Parts: sequence; structure tokens; C-alpha cells
Amino acid sequence: MLPTALKALNLLPKRNIMTSSAALAGKLSALKNPSLVKSQSFINNEWVKSTSGKTFKVYDPSTGEQIGPDVEECGSAEEVEKAIKVAKEAFKTYRNTTPKSRQDMLTKLYNLMLDNTDDLATIITAENGKPLADARGEHMYSASFCEWFAAEAMRTYGDVIPSTIPGLRNVVIKQPVGPVAIITPWNFPSAMITRKIAPALAAGCTCVIKVPAETPFSGLALAELVKQAGFPAGVVNIITSEDSKTVGEVLCASKDIKKVSFTGSTNVGKILAKQSASTLKKLSLELGGNASFVVFEDADIDAAVAGALVCKFRSSGQTCVCVQKIAVHASVYDEFTSKFVAAVNAFKVGDGAEQGTTHGPLIHSRALEKVEQHVNDAVERGAKVLTGGKRLHGNFFQPTVLGDVPQGAECLKEETFGPLAPIIKFTSEDEVIEMANDTDVGLAGYFYSRDIGRIWRVAEALEVGMVGVNTGVISQATIPFGGIKESGYGREGSKYGMSDYEITKVICMGGLGTS
Ligand code: SIN
Repeated sequence: MLPTALKALNLLPKRNIMTSSAALAGKLSALKNPSLVKSQSFINNEWVKSTSGKTFKVYDPSTGEQIGPDVEECGSAEEVEKAIKVAKEAFKTYRNTTPKSRQDMLTKLYNLMLDNTDDLATIITAENGKPLADARGEHMYSASFCEWFAAEAMRTYGDVIPSTIPGLRNVVIKQPVGPVAIITPWNFPSAMITRKIAPALAAGCTCVIKVPAETPFSGLALAELVKQAGFPAGVVNIITSEDSKTVGEVLCASKDIKKVSFTGSTNVGKILAKQSASTLKKLSLELGGNASFVVFEDADIDAAVAGALVCKFRSSGQTCVCVQKIAVHASVYDEFTSKFVAAVNAFKVGDGAEQGTTHGPLIHSRALEKVEQHVNDAVERGAKVLTGGKRLHGNFFQPTVLGDVPQGAECLKEETFGPLAPIIKFTSEDEVIEMANDTDVGLAGYFYSRDIGRIWRVAEALEVGMVGVNTGVISQATIPFGGIKESGYGREGSKYGMSDYEITKVICMGGLGTS
């Protein structure tokens, strides 16, 4: 089983936690542009040390080795409040910059990101573990938000609305919402930051960003480029901390923060929503999903296999839009399943930095425990292990496919966030739509069919914010990314993503001498 994967893993070094000085020899020391390696908070365009003198370490999920310098712990309430004050002050002038100047700075940031592609991808792989090819993909995706919103800055159009009151003229304008708090996850250390800061900066907002403690280096490298791109001091601020609870509480409770944008789990999203209630601030919550991937009997099976592979196993299953359960029509179940398993068996699991690795590790041991628990639960209920099913060394888990998974299995109900693909059989369209919608969350859903009537019917019936039809990849800067139900609210990317950072104001003008 999985001979290539096991061979690759045998080459992996055992977990070896390096000391902080030895860490200078870690993966980040290989960057062409060493000025991108930063380990302090970034406040008011300055690199800031911890007031407590505390630091934390960041480990490569592939090897267990420390990847760079110790990072300053700057998450006390006082430190967060200082960052908010800076963002509030900077907003007073940044809000009045012209859309054209914001466009120019975002375009410069985009170009700087492209100039540093190799290094920024290396940082993503070192701290997150995803293979270099995926890290480059994330990096380009990340840069594309700067490119897209640079252009959107110039399209913050308003409106003129006819008046029902004689003599009045009604004009609608868009204005930046204010200083915003941005809390990002470790699974896309770069792209989830630009997806939020690019529209914020385009709209004229300033930001306080909490980067994840597992993957702070990508965000800090971006901050260095933000500075080089010419954004004024205080417009982008980054807090480095392991204390997400304190940082989140202070940001949400602050009267000076006018919006919070968070990507992460539904549980944490609910906590942040409660904490934000006292100020009724605007929220964008991009939370967990439970996507179904449905293969109808009229599907192109080879295309469906290819789509399911990327949709399930991208980032080793650690994406919120990845498929959670694959439902295959009984008449094509055997064909789909055997082709899918053969393709999974060809994966090369290993250190993301090694040539040829197709799938990397999970982020940490808690992530492995969840995958293992879901596999064991399904197998105890009668599911068949078609491939994988076991932990490997360190943070690695075999890419796993389970067949004939019975209803009630935990992996059909909850997000696994790992490389587990449960497959179930279905016989009717109504039955499979009911199954797909039988969940509290609704982020994405996917299906393969060549029947145009069915395509419209099913796409409209799925209770999700995003539908992939005959594709396993939907993520782009140009689409409104986001969910419904307990997957949260707000949209990121696209013209819809811009409005999440704006307020809509109407100005009703009289005394114009008009009738
Ligand atoms: C996520 O997993 O949160 C985002 C994935 C994507 O943008 O494709």
C-alpha cells in the first residue's frame, strides 16, 4: 500500500527541535532575499519587540525543525490596544487618499510579491508544509488579490437615485468602513491575508492583522513588502502572538475597530461574533464547510476523478472548501472508486520542500488525531478501507479512501480537515441533494454531470455559497467567496468583497433651486 509514499517518508529525518540559535540554519536561511525574514510585530511601519520579553518558536510540520528566528510574543491587551490606536490615527489621513494612489500602491505590492516569488513560496512551504508547487500556487493566488483589488479601487462607484420629495437630489457614495481587524488561519498563510487586506486597502481602510502563531513568517514578509510598496505608516499593522484568545477579545471589543474579518473554524467564529456584539461592528466570517462532491451517472468519470483528487487532497485536505464526502451514483461507483484509489496510490507524500512531493504533512498532531478518529469511527461502523487509513511518521497521515461509508459516520457530518475521502453510493438525485443539504454548514458543493437541466436544478438546490460544476477548483480572486448557514457571512474577493469594507451613505440634497 502506498509504496512511493512510504519510501519517501523513510527518508524523512526524525523530529528534531533545534535551539533558537541553531534555527538560523533553518529553512528560512536559504532565502535569496533575507530581508523578508522578520520575527517581530509590525506596528506603524516599524518592527516591534515584545514588551514582556517573551518569544515563541515556529516549526516545520514536515521535519519538526525550527524554521527561523524566535518570534516576538506581542499579544498582551496593551500591545493590541497600541496597534489599534495606530490604525485609528492612520485612518484619519489614509481614508482621504485617492483611489488612484491606493491602486498604485497595491499594484506595487503585487509586483513586489511577484519579484519575490521563490522566497515567498519557500516561506509558505517551510511553515505550513504544503509542497512547493502548491505553495507557488498559493502565492500566485495571494498576489492576484492585490492585482484584482488594485483595479477595484478605481471602481468604488456610487449612485444617483430619483427623489420622491420635490427639490431633493439623492446621491449614494461609498466610504471606507474604518480600521479593521483581520484574523487569519495557518492553512493559507499568505492568501488569506491578501484576500482581506487588498480590499481593505483599496477601500481606504487601515488594518490590524493577527497572523497565526503556526505560520507568522508569510504575513511578516508581506508586511516588509507593504512598507516597500509605499503604504503610509500605521495603515497595515501585524500582531505576532500565540495568545489568539486575548488578541481576538481585544480586537472584537474595541470601539475603534469597525469591522472584523475572520477565516477559521465555526466555533471560533461564533465566539468572535459574541465578542463583537457589544459594538455591533461589521463582521465577515468565512468558517468551516462540509462540502459534498456528487458524481452523477451521466458524468465524465475521468474528469470527476481528477476534480475529486484536487478538491479533496489539495493541501492534504486542509482547506475549508475541500470536499468532505464523495457521493457516487451506484451505476458508476465501481469505476469511479477504482480509478480514484489508483490515483491516490500514486501520490508521493513527503517533505514539501523535496522535489517530487505531491502531498505534505498535516499542520500538527491534533490534526492527525482528528483524521484518525474519523477513520476509526467509520471503520467501526462498517466502512471499507480502500487505501491508507494509518498515521505515518511525525505529522504525516496516509492519504485515505474509505468506501461504502454508512450514514451516521462522523466523517460525513463534520469537517475532517485532513486527507480522508469517504465515498458513499446513491441512487436518486433527490436523495443525494437531501444528503448534501443535511448539515448545519454551507460553504461549497461540487457535482459532475453533463445534463444541462440537472446542472441548473442541482446548482440551485444546493444550500451553499459556492457551487463547482464539473470542476474541483473554484478559488479565484474574482468570485464572491463565502458561505451560508453556519459557514458564516460576508463575501471575499470580487466586487462583492470590496463592499464588505465599505459603508453606503446617501446624501439627500435640497436647497438647490430645483423642483
Ligand atoms: C480556505 O481554506 O479557507 C480558503 C481556501 C481557498 O481560498 O481556496
